[in-house]
Amino acid sequence: PYDSFVNPSSPSQESAARAPGKTPAGLIRLSDLSDARLADVLDLSDRFKAGVRRTELAGKSVGFLFFRGSLRTRTAFEVAVHQLGGQGVHMSAGSDFWEVEARDGVVMDGTAPEHVRDAAAVMSNYCDALAIRPRPAGNAWAVDRRDEGIHAWARHATVPIINMESALSHPLQALADLMTLRETFGRDLSGKRLAIVWTPSPTPAGPSVVHSILLAALRSGMQVSLAHPRGYELDEGVMSEAKALGAQHPTGGLEHANTSRDAAAGAHVVYARSWMSLENYGNKTRAASRVATERRDWLVDESLMQLGNEARLMHPMPIRRNLEVTDSVLDGPRSLVYQQAANRLPTQKGLLSLLLRGQ
Ligand code: CP
Repeated sequence: PYDSFVNPSSPSQESAARAPGKTPAGLIRLSDLSDARLADVLDLSDRFKAGVRRTELAGKSVGFLFFRGSLRTRTAFEVAVHQLGGQGVHMSAGSDFWEVEARDGVVMDGTAPEHVRDAAAVMSNYCDALAIRPRPAGNAWAVDRRDEGIHAWARHATVPIINMESALSHPLQALADLMTLRETFGRDLSGKRLAIVWTPSPTPAGPSVVHSILLAALRSGMQVSLAHPRGYELDEGVMSEAKALGAQHPTGGLEHANTSRDAAAGAHVVYARSWMSLENYGNKTRAASRVATERRDWLVDESLMQLGNEARLMHPMPIRRNLEVTDSVLDGPRSLVYQQAANRLPTQKGLLSLLLRGQ
């Protein structure tokens, strides 16, 4: 059965170029969604997962621009748009489109032949929303943390912009994580204990996922315990936000632990993730990460999970088996990682549905 509020007569954008002006609301950070809109997305996601079919993207197109690779985000979006009756246009930088210059006012005598101002304006006339996975330059965290690339797309596009993981945030992963937590513990997450634990990797991820789940959990009133080696502190601005959010909720809050074992004690969920040292960001990151892989004391194994309160394991993937988490934990009954990955589909459908219905 199709849902009742499908609107097959929604206006087409074929006839005229979109007028420049205020970009319709998209999603750069999870905080762009009010509590009511976040609840709407999660409710829609539950309904999609339960089998509700809707075609509100009929006649609509969504452009997906990948400046970095992806397995889950890309596949989930491709299937989501198809199942909602729309068309997805997926392109990878380097092979499918030109390099794009994001700085304003520069003489474009470098390698990029196209400016984001022009690309965003043109793409806005083909697509009803644009989703971007930018590639941070990787030279200085103080620069990359500003997420200038995706903000430039949002400034110059006239359709909603969706962040498919920038240097600072991964709001799509946070949506799937919240859905998974709600499925496991119920809608009220207040007071549940979440341990966020650093894991080693020779190719560590950026801190975006950890920033987003940290803020999402605190916003939900969870008690978060954060553990990482010295030198792997998270972004200072995000930590300030986290402390403020923790102080707002009587049931929740943020504490630091020295080891993953300390963090896991009493936890309902152990959220494992590698992330790079922001202190050693840039050229030094690779060398620091090689050293970090020797940190066997940060491996998530059965003995660590036993310290929790019937703790479940979460990880956004990709995951390095037996370096970050042991096979037996990953393949055992405590693991929620496949459920998390599966929830990327209904949550991304829920988000598209919320952003594009009635446009
Ligand atoms: N977790 C996540 O975003 O996976 P991909 O990088 O494969 O999209």
